Amino acid sequence: MVSNAYQTGFGNEFATEAVPGTLPLGRNSPQRVAHGLYAEQLTGTAFTAPRGSNRRSWLYRIRPAAMHGEFTPFAQPCLHGDFSHAAVSPNQLRWNPLPLPQAPTDFIEGLYTMGGNGSPEAHAGAAIHMYAANADMRGRYFYNADGELLVVPQLGRLRLRTEMGVLEVEPQQIAVIPRGVRFAVDLPDGQARGYVCENFGALLKLPDLGPIGSNGLANPRDFETPVAAYEQLEGDFELVAKFQGRLWRAAIGHSPLDVVGWHGNYAPYRYDLRRFNTIGSISYDHPDPSIFLVLHSASDTPGTSNLDFVIFPPRWLVAQDTFRPPWFHRNIASEFMGLVHGAYDAKAEGFVPGGASIHNCMTGHGPDAATFDKASGADLSRPDVITDTMAFMFETRGVIRPTEQAIAAAHRQRDYQACWSGLGDHFAPPQG
Ligand SMILES: [Fe+2]
Repeated sequence: MVSNAYQTGFGNEFATEAVPGTLPLGRNSPQRVAHGLYAEQLTGTAFTAPRGSNRRSWLYRIRPAAMHGEFTPFAQPCLHGDFSHAAVSPNQLRWNPLPLPQAPTDFIEGLYTMGGNGSPEAHAGAAIHMYAANADMRGRYFYNADGELLVVPQLGRLRLRTEMGVLEVEPQQIAVIPRGVRFAVDLPDGQARGYVCENFGALLKLPDLGPIGSNGLANPRDFETPVAAYEQLEGDFELVAKFQGRLWRAAIGHSPLDVVGWHGNYAPYRYDLRRFNTIGSISYDHPDPSIFLVLHSASDTPGTSNLDFVIFPPRWLVAQDTFRPPWFHRNIASEFMGLVHGAYDAKAEGFVPGGASIHNCMTGHGPDAATFDKASGADLSRPDVITDTMAFMFETRGVIRPTEQAIAAAHRQRDYQACWSGLGDHFAPPQG
């Protein structure tokens, strides 16, 4: 697997072959596939999903995906998948970065669940994990039957060798691995940390733009899907699956990354968050943060997402007679925030790259006291520019139930609420 070329566009009908003449013409499943390969379909939506949302791909591979040993449970004590009984409080929660491992730890072993809601069985909700790893996945391959994986690197590059080609991502880029696609993770920088949102619901898609028009926010041509690349390897390997909230392992005698060509619109992709076309106010107030929406997973209720992926990128602040940082707020949605790079403009300190926070439904939050004081007295006659920042949010309609390990973690900031304690009573009604 040497290729790192990409095809551009979001959800396109791609066609790619690592060996010329692999893809059949005019049909998907010929009597004999070229070069002695097997044909296999991978569906990401129901067969009968409307054409505009139907996703599937045809894979032409050295051996079918069915060929492996029996799955048995694989204990990974930091990965959790059942949130139905997790205790949850209305407290604001914040964490320091997940510590990097000392012992050799690959991407799968380094997953650490922060919280979640819904379930894979219901095809609704999401799990939120972090990862901290220092070893390549060698001889181990993984797929997730429970949801698609939105990977947000914060430290170190990832080389995602997938069935459908190689994706390389660095901090400030994201990758999405569809449900079911097999892959392995290498760490070109020797160690890596970041965030993973596991979307149990409808596939992530670009939002409609309404009055914004035909361009803006994340533009479709900036999404990149790999070209076909394959491994032809035999050995004592392991296939790890995530299925119904837990991990399973099976012996496999060959690399499952053996797809020589594929076509279709169900495939992994990457996106560089620095290409986001950030839109904001040029008069007064700032819009709701839905203006920062990159991707969303729709729910059954129109306008109400199962999951929103929102970023807070570098931008100019020019609004007049306006409190320019994010306002104080309470939302019906629940928010998990992370910081990939730099500083976040609503917090003077305490929220650092690799850190995280949870503000659940109707829990009050917003700028800390230092940020409020500074912004309330700022000179608005000149614009502010926010540079060197990339914060993001996984926002869900369901309450995010933190795991017991996240609440008990030594790296949780138990004094987080104190950041608002300096907000004094400035009320001074006119006398007489
Ligand atoms: Fe918020």
